[in-house]
Amino acid sequence: MLRSDFDKQIKECMAKHLEQVNNDKWRSKYHIIPPIGWINDPNGLCEFNGEYHCYYQYSPLTPMGGLKFWGHSISKDLVNWEDKGVALYPDINEDKDGVYSGSAFVKYDTIYFFYTGNVKHAGDHDYILTGREQNVILVTSKDGINFSEKKVVLRNTDFPKDMSLHVRDPKVWEENGIYYMVLGARTIDDKGCILVYKSTDLYNWEFHSVPAGKNEDMGYMWECPDIFKLENKDILMFSPQGMEAEGYKYNNVYQCGYAVGSFEDDKKKFNLGEFVEIDRGFDFYAPQTFEDSKGRRIVIGWMGVPDAIEHRNPTIDNFWQHQLTIPRELVLKNNKIYQIPIAELEALRKGNSFKKEISLNEVAILDIFESNTFELNFNFKECDEFKIELREDCNISFSNGVFKLQLGKSGYGRNMRAVEINNVKSLRVFSDNSSLEVFLNEGEEVFTTRIYNDKIDSKLKLSGSGTVEVEKWAF
Ligand code: FRU
Repeated sequence: MLRSDFDKQIKECMAKHLEQVNNDKWRSKYHIIPPIGWINDPNGLCEFNGEYHCYYQYSPLTPMGGLKFWGHSISKDLVNWEDKGVALYPDINEDKDGVYSGSAFVKYDTIYFFYTGNVKHAGDHDYILTGREQNVILVTSKDGINFSEKKVVLRNTDFPKDMSLHVRDPKVWEENGIYYMVLGARTIDDKGCILVYKSTDLYNWEFHSVPAGKNEDMGYMWECPDIFKLENKDILMFSPQGMEAEGYKYNNVYQCGYAVGSFEDDKKKFNLGEFVEIDRGFDFYAPQTFEDSKGRRIVIGWMGVPDAIEHRNPTIDNFWQHQLTIPRELVLKNNKIYQIPIAELEALRKGNSFKKEISLNEVAILDIFESNTFELNFNFKECDEFKIELREDCNISFSNGVFKLQLGKSGYGRNMRAVEINNVKSLRVFSDNSSLEVFLNEGEEVFTTRIYNDKIDSKLKLSGSGTVEVEKWAF
């Protein structure tokens, strides 16, 4: 279909639904949200000519997901985002069933975008071994807004023979003058893995290796791989599908995490360390990182999970669904990734603030919230257990070495996520109209969830042992 026809459809859809979308009390204040319809993975993250670009998987025509475009949001400070509407349309034969996920690579005055063009053929197919194309497509831009012609650089026939038709989500980086591309894949015998391709000009790519996945038993498909360095160590971040839950681990339908490892043998092998979940739930998937001009490695994730049938998002009744997370800086400490909300978010602290030291030995009720958009910090002293209640029915607790996040009715099916942890010294909570991001011990563990409580609950309820310093800023 032509861009102009898509534009007409989107315009009509906006005319019908925009007011309803914008009047929703659960619309987020400082997160990237779809103007209407559906959002999933962040794509093409980059800083270019002093601006941050966040593209994203976007279905403007339905809040249930469907035909995917790339939406586009721009920011000067990673806090205030301006939505620019559709950037890439599914308008050629090689991407006609979706402009799927991909990344940006900046070189001199040009952004090179690599994404997956999804194609589904009509007929009786399983769409795993037959009936699908996943093409790696390159488009370039000098301003992030206007794009070159699309050029297909890899097709399924360029992938190894033992791969199924699921090979997607390219991420490109440069090392010693050589360009590398990692792709996520599913083998014909249902093993998740990554492929690495090599290029000297960004246009011609040759197969290099399958450095990880074939010897690990970690699910049937690895989506959205990302390879980068922290403290000079090689990190592989990816979203495996098909891992079994183990106690409090891997409780989401699909997983998302990283391994601190090392490339060996000229990138023929990625020596995978232990797989660690990057977020404990409920809503985090398909994250992507980029390095900004300050040298920070920044991650943004999708605040959602595909096929999560056990919980729902009531915003679909108002014609939108899902959002992205706040940008978080990644730091490696003792071989573990810590996620730290980027410093720029302090600019949100515009409203009333509150700070007090509270004894936890008896129940304390503080009347401190005038909205659902705030930041809340806790610093615990001599405390080995606590219970915190906020936003009507959200319970955050720590006892016997287990930290738990529990939601009631406002979770719409989200019940409990937990992590085993020796000590919780601090908590930092970012609350938006329909989300919570909870950072333990300065980002050692993170819980990201949507939450849909009906009213604004002004109360914070606390109990436990020891004392806590509570600090709140309204946004
Ligand atoms: C991850 C994912 C990607 C794919 C995209 C399609 O959520 O399934 O693998 O490219 O979403 O929207």
